[in-house]
Amino acid sequence: MKQVAFVVAASELEDYKITEVIQELAKRDISAEIVAFDEDTASPDWGKYDLILPTPSLDYTHQYERLLQWVAHLEKTGAALANPGPVIRWNTHKSYLLQLREKGISLPHTGVIQSGSTMEQVVAQTESLGCKELVVKPMVGASGKDTSRVMVDNKIDLENIVKLCKDQELLVQEFIPEILTCGEFSLIFFNGVFSHGVRKFNVTGDFRIQGSYGGQVEQLIVDDEQGHVIKTFAQRALQIAPFQNLLYARVDVTLAKPSQEDSPLTLAGTTPVLMELEVFEPDLFTGGNPAAAKRYAEAIRRRIQENNGQKC
Ligand SMILES: Nc1ncnc2c1ncn2[C@@H]1O[C@H](COP(=O)(O)OP(=O)(O)O)[C@@H](O)[C@H]1O
Ligand SMILES: [Mg+2]
Repeated sequence: MKQVAFVVAASELEDYKITEVIQELAKRDISAEIVAFDEDTASPDWGKYDLILPTPSLDYTHQYERLLQWVAHLEKTGAALANPGPVIRWNTHKSYLLQLREKGISLPHTGVIQSGSTMEQVVAQTESLGCKELVVKPMVGASGKDTSRVMVDNKIDLENIVKLCKDQELLVQEFIPEILTCGEFSLIFFNGVFSHGVRKFNVTGDFRIQGSYGGQVEQLIVDDEQGHVIKTFAQRALQIAPFQNLLYARVDVTLAKPSQEDSPLTLAGTTPVLMELEVFEPDLFTGGNPAAAKRYAEAIRRRIQENNGQKC
């Protein structure tokens, strides 16, 4: 019997659930364990797993060095990390977005605030984007943590940015107001093939669509015009990324008013922009979607076979 590990942080061991996928894996003669990467006492034998699968409960942003050490350890010992180490290092630093922008993928107007920037530097950087309202977020961040909406002419907001960048780099972006009405679309791909999508939205007025801020999730219909445009954009972003043949990937997209250089794909006066391309520990939204759970389990089975040099 083959064996896989779904990786979480020790603090999440009891709570993490991926029941439907585990049931589908069992039908394929694959057993699954939930394993912590940051256990202080004993280190698991990672070599015994046929595939190691990071999950959204792998809470790492406050222990990034530890995560990088874990990834390096798996690489050194040849353990079967699903999406490989270089992909994880690339994807956990949001500067990858700027690289994708260079390659023609539309983002909200985006800049970088260096670690340790002074008030003067923060003012210069935020003003240079030419937008009144911005979103500021850590370069290494997840789940909307330390992500805030700021006004470029508000002194308190700017002081908060100076505090936040004291010992970390930040990404600063034009605030996309459509997040409040359209929400954010997540498109999930297994082995490069589109599987399913969701729309995440928040009716509480908070701009962050994560559940912890009151956000909700619904299945995305991809057969209509909007779905088609978003899916085409997501596929392009994935094809342009420097890593291919990824077991899983999630592309987060929102809709924004087009600026001149934006892609010609327009939808009721808006165009897709990339929020994130998540290829490390995304929520793949298989819960409550049996067909998606089945496709994920099947992708895992195929990947194990490929890794073993067998034909699928
Ligand atoms: N430029 C933006 N305009 C509007 N809302 C944003 C913007 N950037 C982020 N958000 C909101 O903040 C949330 C978290 O930001 P995101 O870039 O997805 O980082 P992460 O999910 O890694 O914390 C998004 O899901 C979205 O709701
Ligand atoms: Mg996100």
